[in-house]
This record gives sequence, C-alpha cells and structure tokens, in this order.
Amino acid sequence: MLTELQLRDFRCFESLRVEFAPGFNFFLGRNGQGKTSILEAACVLLRLQSQRSSTLAPVVRFGEKAFGVAGRVENHRLEFRYSALRRKVSIDEVEQRTFGEYLRLGRVVSFANTDIELVRGGSDARRRYLDFLATQIDPLYRPTLRAYERALRSRNALLKSAHPRPREIAAYDSPLIEQGTKLGVMRARLVERLAPLAADAHRQVSGTAETLRVRFAPGNGESFASDLANSQAKELRLRQTIVGPHRDDIELAVEGKSAQPYASEGQQRTVALALKMAQARIFALEEATPPLLLLDDIFGELDPVRRNALLAHLPTDAQKLVTATTMQWRDDDADGPVLELRDRQLIAR
Ligand SMILES: Nc1ncnc2c1ncn2[C@@H]1O[C@H](COP(=O)(O)OP(=O)(O)OP(=O)(O)O)[C@@H](O)[C@H]1O
Ligand SMILES: [Mg+2]
Repeated sequence: MLTELQLRDFRCFESLRVEFAPGFNFFLGRNGQGKTSILEAACVLLRLQSQRSSTLAPVVRFGEKAFGVAGRVENHRLEFRYSALRRKVSIDEVEQRTFGEYLRLGRVVSFANTDIELVRGGSDARRRYLDFLATQIDPLYRPTLRAYERALRSRNALLKSAHPRPREIAAYDSPLIEQGTKLGVMRARLVERLAPLAADAHRQVSGTAETLRVRFAPGNGESFASDLANSQAKELRLRQTIVGPHRDDIELAVEGKSAQPYASEGQQRTVALALKMAQARIFALEEATPPLLLLDDIFGELDPVRRNALLAHLPTDAQKLVTATTMQWRDDDADGPVLELRDRQLIAR
C-alpha cells in the first residue's frame, strides 16, 4: 500500500504532498487541475516509468531541469530523482546501484479512457501493454527487451545506411535471435495466462455471454533464425528488420470476429477494460501482490451497468486511486476519502 506521496517539480506541481487511504481514494477537479499528474506520480514512484508515455522528460515541470517523487510504500520510504543526466533511486535513504530491489516493492495497473487504443490502435500499444505487465512480474523481462531493442536498433541503422553490407548486418543476427527468441517465449506465456482472465472479466463487465478471445500473434514463426535468413532480400529492399518480436501483436476477437474493425465503440471499451482487469488479476490472484490501481477518468465513458460491474470485480484488497471531474456517478459501496483539486491545491471534502 502507498500511504504517502510527495511531488517536486512534477508536471504542473511545484510541490505537493498527498496521503492515501487503503481501498478507494477519489480525486475530483476540473480539467487541467492535475488529477492525472498525481496518478502519474504514483506510477513513476513505484515503477520508475510513466503509464502514459515512454519517456520521463515531459514530466519535468516547465522551466526546471529535474523532478523528484517520494513516498511511503509498506514500511519503506522510496525516493526517485530524475534529470536528463541522472536518475537517483533510494530505499530508506539508501541509494540503490541497481533498480531490482526497488522495483520489487510496488505494482501498478493503470486504467484510462485512452485504453481503447489497445483495441483500436496499432500493435505497439498492445506490445506496451504486455511490456508494462511483464516487467513487473519477471525481473529478466526488462533486460531481455532492452538487449533485443539494442540489437534491433543497430541492425536497422546498418540497413538504412547508404551501402548496407550483409556481413556487418549479420553480426547483429546472433544477439537479435537469442534475445528475440527469449522475449517471444515470455510474451507468448504471458498472453496464455492473460487470455482466460480477460475472457472472464469481459463476461462480467459486458453482462453478456459474448466470448472474448485473446491470442498471441508472434512477429516471427517457430524459428526466428530461419525467418530472418529468409527475409534478407526483402529487408534490404525495405531497409529494416521485418521479422521478430518488434512485430508481435495480440489478436482480440469478440464472438470470433476481430474487435478492431467490427466491435462497436462501447464493445471496444469493454474489451480494453477486460484486458486491464486481467492484468490486475494476474497480480491479485496469481502473484499474490495486489497492485495499486489507477483509474483515470474512466467512469464517464461507461454506462452504469458496466461501471458497477467493474467496481464489483476489481480486486477488493487492491488500493485504488480514482479521478473524475464530478462525483455524480459515485457508487455507494465505493467508499473512500474524496480530495478536490482547486488552483492546483488539494482540499479535503
Ligand atoms: N511538464 C509540465 N510542466 C508544467 N505543467 C505541465 C507539464 N505537463 C503538463 N502540465 C500541465 O499540467 C496541468 C494538469 O494536467 P493533468 O493532465 O494532470 O490534468 P487533469 O486534472 O488530469 O485534467 P483532465 O481532467 O483534463 O484530464 C495541465 O494544465 C498541463 O498543461
Ligand atoms: Mg486527466
């Protein structure tokens, strides 16, 4: 549980301190008051990355060079300071040389109304969904992903050069294949775990018997090595690596039909919600570590039936930070402190 959070030069906040209760915590405020920023700070504190963007540079308050977040998680004080030149991470005032131990202390699942991009958007959104989860449950995932991306970047840079030389390109094949094969296996297993949980959540939230099928669609076949060898002519023509985990995807189908072109907007939102609920359940049911749930402005998009179904089926022992612009939708059993943001200040209601 996250009991306290402090922000310094984080997005719109010069300085802010918030205390959290177990269970539900509500943040109300008009647009642009900093609700999402508070949720983002909680995510950055626990995961050293934002749930919204892949880089932290835009988080630094305009005109400043660094931001800091700190807080209490279980019985530890965590602190993270970021600048373009340096990241400093400490647990109980002890600076950490590696992030491993720090990242073991808190898990996050983020719900936002942009989640519909998981269904509607390109495959990169679905890979990020897998990566965000996998880095939280497998300490080997992040290093494998980084090593793969490094090899891929170097290989693609050569393919884009004026006179690509096959021999030089081939020098990156072995790390690419080694890391890519590991990454593919980890992702395939993870999707297998997610699929039944997402299908259950989908049934509960949609209130229908429609089945959601979630399937891994790997960016390479059984043998990445032979796929790479077979694609040589085409990659020289297209000047990029065309097979491998950077092309991985997740297929989403409702009643056997691909959710991307066929499902209605409401159905697409339900699928996205089910995918996020499946993440929360992996932590709560299988990993026995209830995550911090960030629910950013999502209730306005849901009809009352789905909203109540969501509230009823979120892991009960998970702490929840919820934002909204009004409290009209508030459900009686979703009780917890309500804090209002006005002029970038927090006011208890
Ligand atoms: N790096 C930054 N420095 C200063 N201000 C920033 C920075 N990044 C974003 N902001 C501003 O912070 C304010 C709060 O943004 P935030 O997304 O937290 O608002 P919100 O309360 O979630 O609003 P909404 O209800 O529209 O989602 C915005 O006005 C935004 O322009
Ligand atoms: Mg917001």
